[in-house]
Amino acid sequence: MIRQCVHDALDRIQSSFPRIEDLETLLGLCDPDEIRYLHATSSSVRNDFCQERVALRALIEISSFCHNSCLYCGLNRYNRKASRYTMTEEELLQCVESAVKQGIRTVVLQSGEDGTATESISQIIALIKRTFPIAVTLSLGERSYDDYHAWKLAGADRYLLRIESTDEILYRNLHTDRTLSSRLDCLEHLRTLGYQVGSGIMVGVPGQSITTIAHDIQFFCEKQFDMIGIGPFIPHPQTPLAESPPGDLLLTLNTIAVTRIATKYPWMPATTALGSLNRDYRIEGLKAGANVIMPNFTSHHYKAQYAIYPNKQSKTESRKRLEQLATRVGLSIDYGRCDSLLPG
Ligand code: 5AD
Repeated sequence: MIRQCVHDALDRIQSSFPRIEDLETLLGLCDPDEIRYLHATSSSVRNDFCQERVALRALIEISSFCHNSCLYCGLNRYNRKASRYTMTEEELLQCVESAVKQGIRTVVLQSGEDGTATESISQIIALIKRTFPIAVTLSLGERSYDDYHAWKLAGADRYLLRIESTDEILYRNLHTDRTLSSRLDCLEHLRTLGYQVGSGIMVGVPGQSITTIAHDIQFFCEKQFDMIGIGPFIPHPQTPLAESPPGDLLLTLNTIAVTRIATKYPWMPATTALGSLNRDYRIEGLKAGANVIMPNFTSHHYKAQYAIYPNKQSKTESRKRLEQLATRVGLSIDYGRCDSLLPG
C-alpha cells in the first residue's frame, strides 16, 4: 500500500523544481513497499532518460599525497600512518592500457590534493589522448582557473568535484582549510571551461540531516551536473571522525533514487563506497537508479595505499563479472565513451 502523499510527492518532483518537503518525505521512506515503489520509479526514470545501460569508468588513483585535512578522509595530511605514493608516468600508462584492453573508454585520474605541477598533469593528459581513443576525467580536487584551463587545453574531457555539502556550517566543520564558496567557484570555472562536470555528496557524515540532503538535491537540480556521485560515509580509524557511525545504507539508496528522479539525466555511479560496506551493495545502487560502475585499475601494489576509508573494495573485476553485475538488474554495458546526456 503506497500512501497518497508519496504518489503526490513523486509526481511533483518529476514535473517541477523539487520542494524541500517533498524531498524530505521521499528520502525518509522506510516502509518496504514504498521503498520498492520509489526505487522502481527511479529505475524507470533512468531507463527512459538514459536508456537501459551501465557505463564503465576505470578509476586510476594516481597519487595518495594530500596537503588538505578533510575530517572524513584517510588521506588527510595529519594521518601519519597513511603511506604515500605517486605513480610514474609509465605505471599510469600501463593502468590506462589495461583498462583500454578490457574495452573501457573512460579513465578517471584521481588523487589527493597533492600540488602536482600543472604541466606534468597536462603532459600525462596529452600523452593518454595521443595514445588511446578515450575520454579523460580528472578528479584532482580544487585548483586554480588557470590549471583547469591548461588541463582542458591538454585534452581533458570531464572533471569530478563533489560539493560534499551545500550547508555552509557543515562544510566548514568538515573542511578546516576550505570554504564552500571556493568549491562553488571551482565548479563554475570547470563549467565555463567546457568540462563535463560531476559533483556529489557522501550520505551520513556527522552533522548532516535529511533536510541538508534535500537542499543538496535542490542544488543538483539547479546546477544540472553531467554526473552525480553519491555514496555512504565510511569512518576511517585515523581521522577525527573515527568513532562516528557509517552512513545508513537505506538513506544512501533513497538519496540516489530521489536524485535520479529529480535530475533525470546524470551519469550516477553505484559508488565504490557502496561496494565497501559489510557487503557489496552496488547492485542495490543500480536498482535505485545508478548507471555507472567504476572498476579500479590502480596498479595492485598501490591499491591498498589509497585508503580514503577502510576496506575500500578495489579488486580487479573481469569483463564477465562486470557484465554479470549489469545483467542482474536488467541492464547492459555500454562500451562507448558515454558522454553527457544533458539536453542542449
Ligand atoms: N567515506 C566515504 N567517502 C569518502 N570520501 C572521502 N572520504 C570518505 C569516507 N571516509 C569521498 C569524498 C570524496 C570522494 C573522492 O571520496 O566524497 O569527494
